[in-house]
Amino acid sequence: MNGLRLNPQLLRVPLYIAGKSAEQVSQELGLGEVLKLCSNENPLGSSPMAIAALRDMLPKAHRYPGIAERELRSGLVTYYRNGLTEQHIIVGSGATDVLRIVAQAFIFDGGEAVMCRVTFPLFALLTTMYGGRAIRVDPRPDYRFDLPAMADAITAQTRIVWLCSPNNPTGLVLSQAEVDEFIESLPEHVVVVFDEAYCDYVTDPNCVDSLQYVRQGRNVVTVRSFSKSAGLANLRIGYGIAPPDLIEYLMHTVLPFSTGALAMVAARASLDDRTFRRRSRELVQQERAFLFARLSEMGLTCLPSQANFLLVVDPPLDVPALVDALLHQGVIVRPMAGFGLPNAFRVTVGLREQNERFLAALRTALAEASVTPA
Ligand SMILES: Cc1ncc(COP(=O)(O)O)c(C=O)c1O
Repeated sequence: MNGLRLNPQLLRVPLYIAGKSAEQVSQELGLGEVLKLCSNENPLGSSPMAIAALRDMLPKAHRYPGIAERELRSGLVTYYRNGLTEQHIIVGSGATDVLRIVAQAFIFDGGEAVMCRVTFPLFALLTTMYGGRAIRVDPRPDYRFDLPAMADAITAQTRIVWLCSPNNPTGLVLSQAEVDEFIESLPEHVVVVFDEAYCDYVTDPNCVDSLQYVRQGRNVVTVRSFSKSAGLANLRIGYGIAPPDLIEYLMHTVLPFSTGALAMVAARASLDDRTFRRRSRELVQQERAFLFARLSEMGLTCLPSQANFLLVVDPPLDVPALVDALLHQGVIVRPMAGFGLPNAFRVTVGLREQNERFLAALRTALAEASVTPA
């Protein structure tokens, strides 16, 4: 690299290090079967209809993607109905890629992006990657977004406000009333992103419907994913919904053939797989309540999540030590320092036997540290 002119802003972006697989952890620690509850994956696997479509498409793996993107957008129009057209939709290689698209499109010559201090780390990372400044606003004491404070943080330099509902890592949702007020207060030069990767698990009737703002033609992008309830995380497929003029602008950042047809046909098929989506949703809702109740009985504090994970805050044992003690019993959970919460960990809602295994490991870890849960 001698003599090369480097981008100093890019050097501020930490290198991405992929988490270890369950198999790797099992080998390294000499454990039996390892339970991975750190990435909010679907414990039921993938939509069977998606897998069938993927198999049918495999013989065409040598071809560049053809009309699959168009078909996925048209499938999404049927899925959502009510005023949305293919021109309202942009497809990306995961919600991650759609977030990248928005960052690249709006943070181009500096500029700022406003976000909560406790949210999905990718918002700050993308802002920095594209040369902007991340403006982090503290959450309220109950860990909810402080939208009035976020509105106060908006300046003439603000390009994007990153929202997330349900928020990763808290699982908390934004309410319609608070967002209505927030949206009304925004200047026109700001685009609001709603990251709704976990929207399929929401039961709270007061949760914001961000698509309503898209239908009103506001500067809003709703980002969703096939990684969670459709169980297609490894295929890397997601999408954004926004007013057509905004989508057309965002399309300028899309590289040719950047999303594979294998992923797109599988995603399209998963939209028709109502049975799998319903099973995924019902499992998470039932097991989330089970885990929440058991953790609360143990005297632990967890937030009322609307997603497929729970956040445990201020456990009676140092979080890195607790996460390590669980790991040595073959259960991987996620410490939340990187998400702005050094005293918390996040656990994915699994099948009943997985949740019971996690709870047993947690009891053992606390008992071995001589911390008696209530
Ligand atoms: C809030 C949030 N947005 C986006 C993503 C990434 O979704 P995808 O797998 O579609 O890139 C995740 C993944 O965990 C997430 O938690």
